[in-house]
Amino acid sequence: MYRRYLLHVSGALTLLATSAGLLSQPSAQPIDQKKPQLVDESGNIRVPSDYRERYRFLGSWAVASENGRGSKEMHVVYASPGAAQTYRNEGSFPDGATLVKEVYETSTGEFTTGTVSRADHLKGWFVMVRDAGNTHQDNPLWGEGWGWSWFDAGQPDKATTVSYRDECLGCHVPARSTNWIYVDGYPSLRK
Ligand code: HEC
Repeated sequence: MYRRYLLHVSGALTLLATSAGLLSQPSAQPIDQKKPQLVDESGNIRVPSDYRERYRFLGSWAVASENGRGSKEMHVVYASPGAAQTYRNEGSFPDGATLVKEVYETSTGEFTTGTVSRADHLKGWFVMVRDAGNTHQDNPLWGEGWGWSWFDAGQPDKATTVSYRDECLGCHVPARSTNWIYVDGYPSLRK
């Protein structure tokens, strides 16, 4: 009994010591000065280089294949740190919040769970950056409270989109009442 108590105490002390050590470090994750800017001065967007490590998974979509077996595409959506929590609290995304949608071609096969499609070849990314005040009015990639761009896989710093009005907005009209975002697909935005 006594021995167990001792073990407990020393365990707690080690824990304390470790967290104190962590706290005394200047920063657990130093800011990388060389990290490329997500949005440059003229409003050009790039795919955030660290979204897979730092962003939060929001949800995924499976686009059914025409032959009735599995899915032909999978879309996996991530949000920048804190964006989902602010959405839950305030009902809208904060300025600068960034959403990344990966678009994958799939491969479908028989698994022990049934006929299953999995993400295979990455086709590219859709990226949206929240800008409630519409501060990039002369840039045709910005409007309706967002910056909008598509990037082919392998070119995360070179958007191919020329006009969000012609290439994005029409398809997002069904989600207009939720600030153009298809929020129903994202469980972590629900209260
Ligand atoms: C063919 C119609 C279509 C076009 C064109 C389109 N979108 Fe979407 N987008 C959708 C739909 C539908 C969803 C949610 C369901 C899905 O992914 O299949 C979506 C989801 C997204 C998401 C995830 C957040 C959300 O709204 O749910 C982002 C980010 C996004 N689109 C950005 C863009 C950008 C940027 C463009 C233009 C470069 C664009 N989209 C063009 C239909 C479209």
